[in-house]
Amino acid sequence: MSNQITKKNILIFDSGVGGLSVFKEIYTRLPNENYIYLFDNEAYPYGELAQDVLITRTCALVKQMVLLTQIDIIVIACNTASTIVLPHLRQQTSIPVVGVVPAIKPASILSKTAVALIATPATITRQYTQDLIRDFSTDREVKLIGSTRLVELAEDKLRGRAIDQSEIGQILSSLNNNIDVAVLGCTHFPLLRKEIGHALGDKVELIDSGEAIARRVASLLGEIEEEAEEGLLSIFCSAPPVEEAALNNAVQLLGFTPIQLFPLQGV
Ligand code: DGL
Repeated sequence: MSNQITKKNILIFDSGVGGLSVFKEIYTRLPNENYIYLFDNEAYPYGELAQDVLITRTCALVKQMVLLTQIDIIVIACNTASTIVLPHLRQQTSIPVVGVVPAIKPASILSKTAVALIATPATITRQYTQDLIRDFSTDREVKLIGSTRLVELAEDKLRGRAIDQSEIGQILSSLNNNIDVAVLGCTHFPLLRKEIGHALGDKVELIDSGEAIARRVASLLGEIEEEAEEGLLSIFCSAPPVEEAALNNAVQLLGFTPIQLFPLQGV
């Protein structure tokens, strides 16, 4: 009984399955809490969405979930949304909000030559991202690759579809061995870590923000009681998902109950 009372409810939000890479990191640290994963597949891909639509949808969907479920912490597990939405969302809720932004600072510290930022077309053009580069990568050039195709390939891979390695090689070909660190600046891309690593070669270190986010979530939640029982992992989407059976299969392997529909109301 007391286990149920002390469990934290962690809401993780993304446009699609990318936030599952962040979920995995948080879950590794906090395996006994309740997780509510919400993805806005109706408006996916976020990397192609107008900023005002993205702000409105993210805030509305998150608030809709917060009204229905008691949430202890909100994780915007999407770089494209976090680089624009966080101040708006924080104004509208008193629940702590953790976002994910490209790991430019650790990448630049690690690099001896140049850094690549691989993200969505929206993230690479955001003022937030430009400011991160200006402030934290003063002596390392940051080469920018914005790709929605890589996001689609990550969605395909999670559904068990074969990935064409040569296509990934082509998308990243302009980097031409000129970098030694690549930032995975979209939460979908850790799902393609093996393929991206293969395309860039062993000498390039891949960095993402997942573990840092997990640390931040754990520290904001404070002391978590030792719990014997596992939490409940539920998953919601804003529209019927593409290849639902394959997707359900994949999320159930991670421990989630079947995907439930959670349409955006009144926007
Ligand atoms: N997973 C997202 C990110 O971290 C967005 C992918 C998309 O919908 O374009 O940027």
